[in-house]
Amino acid sequence: MSQSPRFRYEEIADFVAGLAGRGTLKPGARAPSLREISTQQRTSLSTAVQAYRLLEDRGILEVRPQSGYYVAKPPPALPVPTTARHSIRPAKVELSGLMLDLLKHASDEAFVPLGCAIPNQRLLSSSRLDLVLARTARVKGSQCNTYSPPYGEMSLRLEIARRALRFGQALAPDDIAITCGCTEALALALDAVTEPGDTVAIESPTYFGLLQVLRAKRLKVVELPTDADTGVAVDALREVVASGKVRACVLASSFSNPLGCTMPEENKRAVLRILAEHGVPLIEDDVYGDVHFGEERPLPFSALDTHDNVIYCGSFSKTLAPGYRIGWIATRRHMARVLETKFATSLATPVLTQVALATFLSNGDYDRHLRRVRREFADTLARMTRVIEQAFPPGTKVSRPAGNFVLWVELPEPADTRLLFAQALEKRICFAPGVVFSASGKYAHCLRLSGGHGWDARIEKGLRTLGAMAVRAAGLAGSGKKPVRSG
Ligand SMILES: Cc1ncc(COP(=O)(O)O)c(C=O)c1O
Repeated sequence: MSQSPRFRYEEIADFVAGLAGRGTLKPGARAPSLREISTQQRTSLSTAVQAYRLLEDRGILEVRPQSGYYVAKPPPALPVPTTARHSIRPAKVELSGLMLDLLKHASDEAFVPLGCAIPNQRLLSSSRLDLVLARTARVKGSQCNTYSPPYGEMSLRLEIARRALRFGQALAPDDIAITCGCTEALALALDAVTEPGDTVAIESPTYFGLLQVLRAKRLKVVELPTDADTGVAVDALREVVASGKVRACVLASSFSNPLGCTMPEENKRAVLRILAEHGVPLIEDDVYGDVHFGEERPLPFSALDTHDNVIYCGSFSKTLAPGYRIGWIATRRHMARVLETKFATSLATPVLTQVALATFLSNGDYDRHLRRVRREFADTLARMTRVIEQAFPPGTKVSRPAGNFVLWVELPEPADTRLLFAQALEKRICFAPGVVFSASGKYAHCLRLSGGHGWDARIEKGLRTLGAMAVRAAGLAGSGKKPVRSG
């Protein structure tokens, strides 16, 4: 699979978007003319035209007939979904039957891929990674055809520990065990600190794979109200933890799935304090941490933890290699238990891919790659948001993640995304209905859209078709009301 090259017109579009983003060109201001920009950027007029068309599509520039290009005034942003206030009693995990349908259709190429949070192979540096893997196989293949110790390859643990230092995690390689994806890390963490029948506090809505793991381990959950900007409600967490009913807590540190929320640092510190006071361990899912759109990666809980009370879970699945199934778990206090269970469940993680990944990390390829995918995902979410503003029913709310590549959309009731899901599948469009993100069937009027595929004409068309279907689902067809913004 080839890497997507960066075209000259995209670079020019980014340059002009940067001028608008930093306020050098204010909304309503005249943009440099096509001739000016092509001279300044030493490019052809047709490349400048392509760049400006792209900026028009992205809603950054608008053309005024006989006058030229102007910086568009941003439309009033759609409101962010509201925090659901609901009961915070322990309950069994009830999985939605739609989850299997979603998994079945999400990776079927016949469907417009807005369903699962899977990065497109075009965006992953697959060809570069293939080369590193092939070279590793050629040079070290037979050495790799063996069991690694349960904690995994030293070279990879060292690279992970080095990278973690950049965002404040002081980890020794021995604090890290390599796992089969973040999923195994979460499962090992839960095994280390809970028994079947215990209750775990989780965000709501939350990643449906976590719900599956919790159910498989016969754990009950308390679904904590979670804000689309600031994450879990600290007061609700305090109340639940103080009741003594909760044995562990699982939270995403940054750009959670599906809400995309990131807790402010002071809230993270408050959560850490509350949990440490009551001796409740925090299992941190930071699988999206590397996909930040701002300059800085927010600090994870584990970087702020002073009580050795956080079990950190990460992976390379969302940025680089979902198929390699490589993740990691970091804990000092629970490592012995983690390794016992790792040995008993999968014995070890495959060696070849670990060694290849360690090389990819050490030679700087990963950092270069991350800069590109962050830009692509930010751009895709911005374009998706713009189409939602134009094509979805009035009253729609949409999340505004500062990282990640999914959007959480709240439709005005009575829209029911379970029905919408069935209708969309008939039109070969896949998205994730809201109920799969709850242990108790909440969020029937919500949906999650993945931007993992990146932007193209098929995604845009699928999204507009879905918007028109959502207008009907919200009971607005023929009512004369316009979608969120006509345009
Ligand atoms: C929040 C979250 N955690 C964990 C995972 C699973 O990660 P992995 O593929 O590394 O097992 C996902 C995948 O979608 C996710 O969204």
